[in-house]
Amino acid sequence: MNEDVSDGWAASAVAWIVEQGEDGDYGRRFVLDAPMRARIEGRGFRNALDVGCGEGRFCRIMQRAGIRTTGVDPTEALLARAMELDPQGDYRLGRAETMDFGAEFDLVVSYLSLIDMPDLAGSVARMVAALRPGGTLLIANLTSFNTAGPSEGWTRDGEGVLRFVIDHYMDERPTWVTWRGIRVQNWHRPLSTYMTLLLDHGLQLRLFVEPQPTGGDPDRIARHRRVPFFHIMEWQKPA
Ligand SMILES: C[S@@+](CC[C@H](N)C(=O)[O-])C[C@H]1O[C@@H](n2cnc3c(N)ncnc32)[C@H](O)[C@@H]1O
Repeated sequence: MNEDVSDGWAASAVAWIVEQGEDGDYGRRFVLDAPMRARIEGRGFRNALDVGCGEGRFCRIMQRAGIRTTGVDPTEALLARAMELDPQGDYRLGRAETMDFGAEFDLVVSYLSLIDMPDLAGSVARMVAALRPGGTLLIANLTSFNTAGPSEGWTRDGEGVLRFVIDHYMDERPTWVTWRGIRVQNWHRPLSTYMTLLLDHGLQLRLFVEPQPTGGDPDRIARHRRVPFFHIMEWQKPA
């Protein structure tokens, strides 16, 4: 059964798989993977739930760090690719909002998937429920400054200077974003929406970083310094 709910993921799956390749896209390869790996390696995590796992790249990375993984994603074609690349892996078709795990995971990961979830409160509640007491919720997300920008990204002002215009910051809303054959719906929410929700679950913030690129095209590095793209947060469920 395909669970596409017209958020564009089913139609974008082939282009997404090409875009990720072996090493991930620019943001993963040059910005997020290294600090995300640093948070999972050598910490003694035994099992992890990757919510919105896509084609399974971060599950495979976690397995190489000795962690047993379960991946959940509603996009059938992405899960099929995950299972093709990792036939022994545990991948489940489903949505964060309706997944139903007990408090069984040392680590729950959302790697650039919170922005894809229409019901954030429902999704976070299920993620927290899946964590054992003392467990860790590791989140990489697009910053709210970024998602408050126009869907076409950077534009030139009247003098021809590239600008990134943030507007309607406080208004939660879905926007369609398009790049290299991918067209999906992302949700903009103010940062306080995320933080308040996580705090209200009694989680404790252990890490908040805005990682910068470590390589690649100099123009892209410069843009990441002008406008924050990503942040990583780590939250702990009280023991
Ligand atoms: C930007 S991709 C990230 C995929 C993967 N985590 C990675 O970093 O490569 C977002 C993923 O969220 C999934 N997704 C969309 N809606 C979701 C939902 N309600 N619950 C869980 N995952 C969802 C999409 O199918 C897609 O695989």
